[in-house]
Order: sequence, then C-alpha cells, then structure tokens
Amino acid sequence: MLNRLPLSRLLSRRRSGGAVDGQSSSDRARRGGSPQTGARVVCIASGKGGTGKSVVASNLAIQRARMGERVLLVDFDAGMANAHLLLGMTPVHDLGHVLDGDVSARNALVKGPHGLSLLSGGVGRQTLINPTRRQLDRLFKALTPLEEDFDLIVIDHGAGLGYSTLAHLAATSTLILVTNPELTALSDAYAIYKRAVTVNPSISVGVVINRAEDEGLAKAAWGRFRGASIRFLSREPEYIGWVPADPAITQSVQQRSPVTVSWPDSPAAKALQTVVTWSGLDLARGSQPFFQRARKALR
Ligand SMILES: Nc1ncnc2c1ncn2[C@@H]1O[C@H](COP(=O)(O)OP(=O)(O)O)[C@@H](O)[C@H]1O
Ligand SMILES: [Mg+2]
Repeated sequence: MLNRLPLSRLLSRRRSGGAVDGQSSSDRARRGGSPQTGARVVCIASGKGGTGKSVVASNLAIQRARMGERVLLVDFDAGMANAHLLLGMTPVHDLGHVLDGDVSARNALVKGPHGLSLLSGGVGRQTLINPTRRQLDRLFKALTPLEEDFDLIVIDHGAGLGYSTLAHLAATSTLILVTNPELTALSDAYAIYKRAVTVNPSISVGVVINRAEDEGLAKAAWGRFRGASIRFLSREPEYIGWVPADPAITQSVQQRSPVTVSWPDSPAAKALQTVVTWSGLDLARGSQPFFQRARKALR
C-alpha cells in the first residue's frame, strides 16, 4: 500500500550534510500562519509497524502530563490498539464506541497518571480497522470538542496509509516520524514524509531513529533519510534524535509502565527525553482546528 520509492539505491548511499544546491529548507523554517486556539496536536507515524511509535507516543504523553500539561493520547491504531497496554491503563470505551454513538468522546476517555487522558483505539473491531470516509468524518466530528479540553493531543498511528492517517497527515501542523535504521523502515518512513509534504506543504516534521545499536548507525540512517529528502523533495525534516535498542524498553512493556517512568535512568529513557523536550511540540498549531482540517481532507 505504501508508495515505495526507487529508494534502495539512494538510501543505501550515505550523503554528507548540507543542502543540495542550497535549495532545501528545513521544515522548521516553514512553519507559519495564524495559530488556532485549543490543543496543539502532534501525530506520530512511521509507515512500518513495530518501529516504536507507541513507545514514543506513550512516553511523550506521560512525560508532558508530568510536566503539567493537559495531555490526551489518542490511539489511532484503531482496531489494533495497544497504547493502553504500554501505559497500564484499562479503558472501558474506545474509538469504536464513539463512532457508533454509544458514548461522547469526552465520556470515552480514561484517566491515567499525572492526569493523562487516553482515548483507546479498541481491539479487534472491523469497522475501526477499515473505516469508510463517511465513518471517519463522523468520528472526527465527534472528536472535535476534545480540542478545547487539552493543551496537547498526541495521536499514535498504526502502520500503513489508511484514510485516517492520510487525513491526519493533511491536517496536522506537526508530525513525528519514528523509524529504525533498517532500509525497509527508512523507505516506509520516507514514503510517509513524501506523502505528508505533498498534501500538506507547511507541515513540520521531526524524525526519531529508534532502536539503533549505536549513535553511528543512527546518524548514518538519518543521513540517508535526509539525503533522499533533500535530493527528491528539496526540503528536509528536523532530526529530533535517536533512541538506543535497550532491554529496559522490553522490560517496561512487560511491566505495562513507560520506560521513562519505570526505568528513568536507562539509556532509552534518557534518549526519549529529547523527544519530550523537542521544541517542535511547542509550535504544533495549525491555522484551523485539527479535526476540522482532517474532515476537509476526507472530502
Ligand atoms: N528502543 C527500543 N529498544 C528495545 N525494544 C524496543 C525499542 N523500541 C521499541 N521496542 C520494542 O518494539 C515493540 C514494538 O514497539 P511499538 O512502539 O509498539 O511499535 P509500533 O507502535 O511502531 O508498532 C515494543 O513492544 C518494544 O518491545
Ligand atoms: Mg503502535
């Protein structure tokens, strides 16, 4: 389903830094427009499954809540949700109940540590795994009031490029791509990046290289991603940082407690703090409310 690139050639070639012909511009420099009111929204995507999106999203959400923000994490890996597992939370309702009109979005939330709110994606519901545009429009409309209730909304996406991810890429001002050093993960993340900047030229994108064996491999992966972006798109995302492959994450998943909470001194937890404090999060505002833009994108 992903729009794969003729990338194996390019991504396997490490490029040195610097813009090609001085033509590229960083995503940060593009941000502009008059900001909306209500929550800042950041989407977390990767293209490929298992790259660490939910690990990043859950740690980001809990730490920003700990810092005093009103944070909502929406698990938009709808039908295959697992953010509640990573956070040790037990939702009663999920996006499926909101879609079916059983509960309002506000009543579907479950509260967690530091006042963090979670809207779960539900597990095993067919309508959520493959929703129609009409269903998504209804869902986005139902979610709209939540933007008034929070300072920051973190949206954790599933793999691939379904309608909901596409609409969110078009709507969001800020996107975090979580990828791994492997060629397949880089290629899929690049496909998402290309799609995002095509449908949403003013989007600001940050990249996290997760599960790298060491900094050299992480930087090499970033260099490939950046080189391809500059060469083919004449722009580049922002490098947020890298997170090492760390058994503390595996253990934290088993314990259902985010690694930044359960193992704060582990290398992975320390590295994840660079995502938590990424300055792009403070500027994550579009010119219109997020779900309104997402609904427009569905048409
Ligand atoms: N930096 C890391 N080090 C070790 N294991 C990791 C790391 N990041 C993720 N994992 C493992 O990968 C699994 C999948 O991560 P997850 O965040 O659920 O992926 P995604 O949401 O992208 O599908 C996690 O359950 C965890 O065990
Ligand atoms: Mg996930």
